[in-house]
Formats: sequence, structure tokens, C-alpha cells
Amino acid sequence: MFMSGNGSEERIVYLDNAATSFPKPLCVWRAMEHYFFKVGGNPGRSGHRLSYRASEILFDTREALARLFNIDTPERIVFTKNATEAINVAILGLLKPGERVVTTAMEHNAVMRPLRYLEKTQGVRVDVVPADSRGMVDMEAMARVLEEKAALLVVNHASNVAGSLVDLAGVGALAREAGVPMLVDVAQTAGCFPIDVKSMNISIMAFTGHKSLLGPQGTGGLYVAPGLEPYPLIRGGTGSKSELEEQPALWPDAHESGTPNVVGLAGLRAGVEFVLEEGVDSIRAHEGRLFERFWQGAREIPGLILYGPDEWKERVAVVSLNVGGEDPAWVGHRLDRDYGIMVRVGLHCAPSAHKSLGTFPRGTVRVAFGLFNTSDEVDMALEALEAIARG
Ligand code: ALA
Repeated sequence: MFMSGNGSEERIVYLDNAATSFPKPLCVWRAMEHYFFKVGGNPGRSGHRLSYRASEILFDTREALARLFNIDTPERIVFTKNATEAINVAILGLLKPGERVVTTAMEHNAVMRPLRYLEKTQGVRVDVVPADSRGMVDMEAMARVLEEKAALLVVNHASNVAGSLVDLAGVGALAREAGVPMLVDVAQTAGCFPIDVKSMNISIMAFTGHKSLLGPQGTGGLYVAPGLEPYPLIRGGTGSKSELEEQPALWPDAHESGTPNVVGLAGLRAGVEFVLEEGVDSIRAHEGRLFERFWQGAREIPGLILYGPDEWKERVAVVSLNVGGEDPAWVGHRLDRDYGIMVRVGLHCAPSAHKSLGTFPRGTVRVAFGLFNTSDEVDMALEALEAIARG
């Protein structure tokens, strides 16, 4: 990919799609531009046409997301600024003092930090199901741990470190049997792996807009199945029930106080529609081809250590690796400086995932492919890693 600016042109190989996807489809830029040229109003606030147009953007974004995830109640999707905020709304809004929560060793700090906070301040009991050195969650341990009463199960669909997937349908069935609502963090899978909240028995789902949904940063959301009512974290003006000084209970208003990020959501709608048009299965197949090419090539490079499952069916296209005993930060710096290849290095905000893989505290170099990567870019990454491993 070529980027131009300031009269210069630079060649970039962007392999940091697990942090944020880049580039975005042109329709996303156009939708955001359209907002500034033709919309501009505040949704649900004023009675004029620009306000209605803004409300329509929110409505259409919810509808598109509901189609993507097979959700019957789009009003139960509330917008947040990212998956972290969505996870906080769910965890802090649902768990009560002294309750028990089950989670896994592959969680991001977006889950672990709110849980540890509740453990410390409100006596919430946190039970962590272990994962193996490939990043696969121990399903037998999960079944055992769920035999004891729990108020919530929190599961990361795919690890942002190892790329390993959790069998959501399997965990969903265990959760249903145990009568425990399941909160799923789909930050790494929404838009690149088929998700069906009904068949997977997902009660609560936190997603971000800026990764495989191809929207801009500052967008994301939470789906909560009917029957579950988290306390709102933020209260304030919603443009509805304005005669009341209490937060309205109706969805999505209960969790959407203050003026939303309409321009961002306009971009997110376009991103989700782009994904729907391409088809999640075909996006997954493309990423699978990139992964297979990379994995086969990387296995042949002496000194390269690869983490996570070998089988595509057990993972997404997020690959952690190390080059012998080299510091991952140094490898990442060389990839950028000498080859124009962008990756993420370190602990990826998920220390316990690295403890499972045996890569704590050094961390790893993480290569994450996306819809717009090509097989040529895979080969460039392999050549660069081979040269760095040669020393
Ligand atoms: N959680 C994101 C990542 O893994 C930001 O890079």
C-alpha cells in the first residue's frame, strides 16, 4: 500500500489489523463526509430535518449490526466508544457485591481490570478458567467451574494475542445449561467470523467498530438480550422523557446519554454494510488464505517461534511470534524502520494470555492480517522476518 502526504510517497505494509484496521473502505470516508455536508444535526433532540437525518443514521447502523449478528431487537444494541466501554457497561452494570463471575485466562485487560476492581472493592469472586500454551481455553475446566452458581460468564471469542478461538456454540450451551448469562468480547471477530447471537446463545456481546467492522475509531457497542437490565454507567440527557429527572428505562436511551458520535456511526454503518456485501464467510476465507501462506512460510524460518493453534478452524489471522531471544520491541522497530512493516509488539494489554503461552513478561511480535492485505504482503513480511532472524 502506498501512502502519500507532504509531497512524499511511502510504501507501507500494514499488519496491525488487530489493533485497528487500516485502510478503511472508501464508502466509510464517503459516509463520514456525507454527514458533514448533508446531515450535521443532533439525533433525537430537535424536530428539524437535519436532526431526523442524524437519527436515521443511528437507526440504520443498529439495523445493519442486527442483520450481521442475527439480532431480533436492534434497540438492545447501544453505542459506546469502543469494546472496552461496552464491557465496562456490562460488567459494572450487572455484577452485584459478593457475586461470582467466571472468565478465562485469555481475556484482555478490558475484562480483567474491571473484574479485579470489583473483586477488590465489592468482594466479587473471580474464577479464571485456564488456557493451554496454544491459547486454547480448557473446556473441561470450564464445564466444571460452571457447575457452581455464577452471575456472569465473560469469554473472549478470539484472543488478541494468540488468535485462538473459543468454541462459542459449545461454551454457549454450557452457559445455557448452567443458567448463566454469557458476555462475549467479539473485538477480534466481529466482521471476520460469523456470529449468530441466537445459535451461539450469546446474552451480551461487546464489539468495537474500528477493527473488522471497518468503521472509524471511537465507535463500538453492546448488545444485551431482553430480560437483562444492567444499571447505566452514565446518566443524562437522551432527548426522550425529558420531563423526568430519572434515567429512562427504555432502550437504547437508558445507555445512550449525551450527544453520540454520529459522524463515527455514519462511518460504522458504511463499514458494516461493506462487510455484509462482501460476506463474512468470504472475508474469513481470504484471511484464512493469508494466514496459511504466512504460517507455512514462517515455520520454515530458522529461529522463528510461532504461538497459537496451527489449524485455521481454531483461530483468526492474528499471529504472535518471537525471533529467537530477540526483544520483540527491537524486532518491531526493525520491521518498521527497515521494511515499512507495521506490527504490534509487547503484551497487547493481555498479561494473563501471555502467561498461558509462556511469553510473559517479554511478550511477542504480533502480525495481524486484514481484508485488504495481499499474498505479496505476506511474502514481504516473511522475507523481512527471515532477514532479521538471520541477524
Ligand atoms: N486490543 C487491541 C490490540 O490488541 C488494541 O491491539
